[in-house]
Amino acid sequence: MKKIILSFAVLSICFACGPQAGSPGSSEDLTAYTTKGKEVASLTQQTFFQEVNDALAEGGTEYALQFMHPIDNPKIDSLDRVYACTIGRTSNKIRNVANKPDGPEELALIEAYINGKVQGDTVLVRNDHVIYYQPILLSMPACLQCHGQPGVDITESTLAAIRTLYPDDQATGYKLGDVRGLWKVSFKDKAQ
Ligand code: HEC
Repeated sequence: MKKIILSFAVLSICFACGPQAGSPGSSEDLTAYTTKGKEVASLTQQTFFQEVNDALAEGGTEYALQFMHPIDNPKIDSLDRVYACTIGRTSNKIRNVANKPDGPEELALIEAYINGKVQGDTVLVRNDHVIYYQPILLSMPACLQCHGQPGVDITESTLAAIRTLYPDDQATGYKLGDVRGLWKVSFKDKAQ
């Protein structure tokens, strides 16, 4: 537990950026949601990155493909319950169709991050519920084994395995440091 808290402190420094308040809801409410959202997204990301490293070390790239669902992880499930939220990922270039943006507004937000027009985290209210977003960066070289340039970073056999599992995959061609998508923390209670 100590280790998790410590690593969270490190991660939260990396993501310490001001919230961009959306429409209704007082700014005080949104500040509280920003704090909670940041905790959830940072812990989720830490768990996910650890899982990517462990799976790659254990069995290599193609073996690791089956462990790339951070949302199904029991640790993340418990965060869902403790924080009364749903944790998801989304991107403009998706691998799993289940992660597609939920509408033009969300797609525009993702694109704003990719174009560098928005940075840090975003908190907004949609349909009376607060949603917290944080960018997911391709910050480890290991990410490129499955999201980099085909034939350069991604081997032919890995590419074939990805295409078999995800025939409509769009999630390749990235460079280190690119925005790959967003963590999305949707709070279940109604915004005041
Ligand atoms: C072993 C191959 C592999 C590695 C390494 C890998 N990914 Fe992925 N990535 C996948 C697969 C497979 C999916 C689809 C998972 C699913 O079905 O939800 C995915 C999905 C995603 C998504 C969700 C959006 C989408 O396209 O469905 C994000 C964001 C993402 N990866 C970021 C990363 C980051 C950041 C890293 C490095 C820390 C990384 N990935 C490393 C294979 C990989």
